Amino acid sequence: MGSLWLETTTLPDYGPLEKSLNTDVLIVGGGLAGVLCAHRLTELGVDCVLVEAENICGGVTAHTTAKLTAQHGFLYRTLLDHFGRSGAAAYLEANLTALERYRTLCQRIDCDFEERDSYVYTLDDPKAAQEEFSALQELGYPATLERQLPLPFPVAGAVRFPDQGQFHPLKFVRGLLPGLTVYAHSPIRKIRPGYAITDQGHVVTAKHILICTHFPMLNRWGSYFIKLYQHRSYLLALEGAPALPGMYVDNAQGGLTFRPCGPYLLFGGGDHRTGKAGGGWSELETLAQRYWPKAQVKYRWATQDCMSLDGVPYIGPYSPSTPGLYVATGFNKWGMTNSMVAALLLGDLVTGRDTPWAKLFAPNRSMLCPQLFSNLISSAADLLTPTRPRCPHMGCALKWNSQEHSWDCPCHGSRFREDGQLINGPAQEGLSPK
Ligand code: FES
Repeated sequence: MGSLWLETTTLPDYGPLEKSLNTDVLIVGGGLAGVLCAHRLTELGVDCVLVEAENICGGVTAHTTAKLTAQHGFLYRTLLDHFGRSGAAAYLEANLTALERYRTLCQRIDCDFEERDSYVYTLDDPKAAQEEFSALQELGYPATLERQLPLPFPVAGAVRFPDQGQFHPLKFVRGLLPGLTVYAHSPIRKIRPGYAITDQGHVVTAKHILICTHFPMLNRWGSYFIKLYQHRSYLLALEGAPALPGMYVDNAQGGLTFRPCGPYLLFGGGDHRTGKAGGGWSELETLAQRYWPKAQVKYRWATQDCMSLDGVPYIGPYSPSTPGLYVATGFNKWGMTNSMVAALLLGDLVTGRDTPWAKLFAPNRSMLCPQLFSNLISSAADLLTPTRPRCPHMGCALKWNSQEHSWDCPCHGSRFREDGQLINGPAQEGLSPK
């Protein structure tokens, strides 16, 4: 029983890179962000090559809830407070533009696209819903404040974004791939400004390199190992649960998420920091049994998201000292629209166009915020924990995940199978035999 998306679609199986080559833009990482970047650059007439370590879109893209919305939790009040009106407006405009571009592309791609309203609710904090609604009024966005939702429990308040969307992410990707130059099963082992080298020793030279590898693979620049951490969350596809009209998510960490999907209800949650206790399918299955006793679990899957420190992704130059290297990461569980923002923004940067969003998403913006100090304290504790096994990334103590039978790293989110094989980076290798 795996991901609904993977089990209902087949993507082309691209072969590996078998020779050195030269291109204008190399894109490293074939998840949705990488594919969208390749598609955008090809549309702009730029010569580009996409290289993926494993299968195209086999990671986060294959394990998402696939909601297309500019509503990312109760975020806009926080953005107004932290970045001012221009920053909050830029985030909203970027994500609404992304949504509109999906709407246009989905007209020609058979990918189950549907318009749906999006709702973020709170169980216990009506003031937070009111403040988010006020923030959106300040930004001139037609959100509405709701008091009741068709969920199996009462809510204390909710904010609605009208006319958002949902789709089948892998059917969408399948429609984007024709015409792109793609190599799979070709891990990149070294990246420097101007070139990258694969596991097999093939060299790709490029004026620009976009690193779209979920967690950026270069530790030496940009300090992404301080600026990012990872969360896991869990999903079930239920048959026999009532159809819901919209897409719903709790603003609280660990809360529940719902969206319709053909004959199924996608029911998820249990979000927790990778390597820490919390969540899991069993908790969701217990709740599903309570809410809809006749429903049956048809698919179940989990995903892993890169979290930025201030709620805004890092999209732009990799660091001030790596000319020609760019990054797109830290989508904070909202990777569908933020991947599209990355494709539009990086497409503009690579082709020398002006973009009003560059300042907000700039990866080298100030990171002095409470989450930074919380991450530093937590990482120091996990580095000093004396247990084994240790993570090959930077040496933190791994924690056993009994739900998924994996060794998980609480510092930056690397994961390993029971036999030590690497599942998720930023580690680049598996565990050594004892
Ligand atoms: Fe960085 Fe484990 S992922 S130390």
